[in-house]
Amino acid sequence: MTSPFPQSYPSTRLRRLRQSAWVRNLSSENHLTPDDLIWSMVVHDGDEPTIPVGSMPGLFRLNVDEAAKAARRASDLGIPAIAIFPHINPERKDDAGSEALNPDGLVPTVIKAMKDAAPDVGIICDVALDPFTAHGHDGVIDADGYVLNDQTVDLLRRQAVMQAEAGADIVAPSDMMDGRVGAIRDALESAGKVNTMIMSYAAKYASGFYGPYRDAIGSASALKGDKKTYQQNPANSDEALREVAMDIDEGADLVMVKPGLPYLDIIRRVSDTFAVPTIAFQVSGEYAQIKAAGERGWIDEERVMMETLLCFKRAGACGVITYFAEAAAQILNE
Ligand code: PBG
Repeated sequence: MTSPFPQSYPSTRLRRLRQSAWVRNLSSENHLTPDDLIWSMVVHDGDEPTIPVGSMPGLFRLNVDEAAKAARRASDLGIPAIAIFPHINPERKDDAGSEALNPDGLVPTVIKAMKDAAPDVGIICDVALDPFTAHGHDGVIDADGYVLNDQTVDLLRRQAVMQAEAGADIVAPSDMMDGRVGAIRDALESAGKVNTMIMSYAAKYASGFYGPYRDAIGSASALKGDKKTYQQNPANSDEALREVAMDIDEGADLVMVKPGLPYLDIIRRVSDTFAVPTIAFQVSGEYAQIKAAGERGWIDEERVMMETLLCFKRAGACGVITYFAEAAAQILNE
């Protein structure tokens, strides 16, 4: 290749480092590996092995046996952890979300089955009441439908201890009540669960991107109103830093930002500001968008999936909770 320009121009050619795969790989600033993936998995308490979720093509609610098998696959693929989200029979829901505290309920049963099947895979449990409440909110509500902070925190600490006692490695409060991380840490210490980690949904926004998830866990039709009185305003970024600082102060071991892609700026600020592992959650609506456009042939689904996962790493996340974990790990293992 000869250049029409004088020898001296341009001496810096950034395209030199892009000319072939080996040098692109060598000069890559970030890498995605199966170690970065947390498998977001929906489980159900029925008999059917798998039930498709309409708004999330390719995603199935798994029964306990299938969830245990999936845990084995996670282990084989090198996926370090699974985050469990329960879909329970609506007849078991009530206004207080009592089923959340049942030590023989779906979540503790799944934890034990997964731990038996794949003891080397970390288990992460959402701490929140929404899969269990008849009204679909993350806590208990008053007559006006307002979610009561302190009463909810009291239930969450019991839910977290129950999950830890069933074998959860990480409890992940996703409710956005004030003071819940500290209360849960205290409760875990009192219960002797000193090594149970807390991954707080520290900066969790009131987002439209959770729509398909609420369908997946069966809280969509139940939910009255929205969650704007407890989840964060999408307009705010400084507030996320306050949330994260408080959660770390209260004892969070890892912090999470959620949703993922529209909030990469928050991931960057959080990971730059705090020396704490920062996790991104690529939520249900993000998954659904990629799937829907991919199905129509408008985007290359696999390519966009891998690109988005890498973008979380570039933004500063050390791991990503994603419904794509199995598919992405398969590609990375090829
Ligand atoms: C609820 C919870 C939500 C998600 C995880 N935990 C939804 C919500 O806050 O309404 C969303 C997950 C997703 O959209 O994939 N505590």
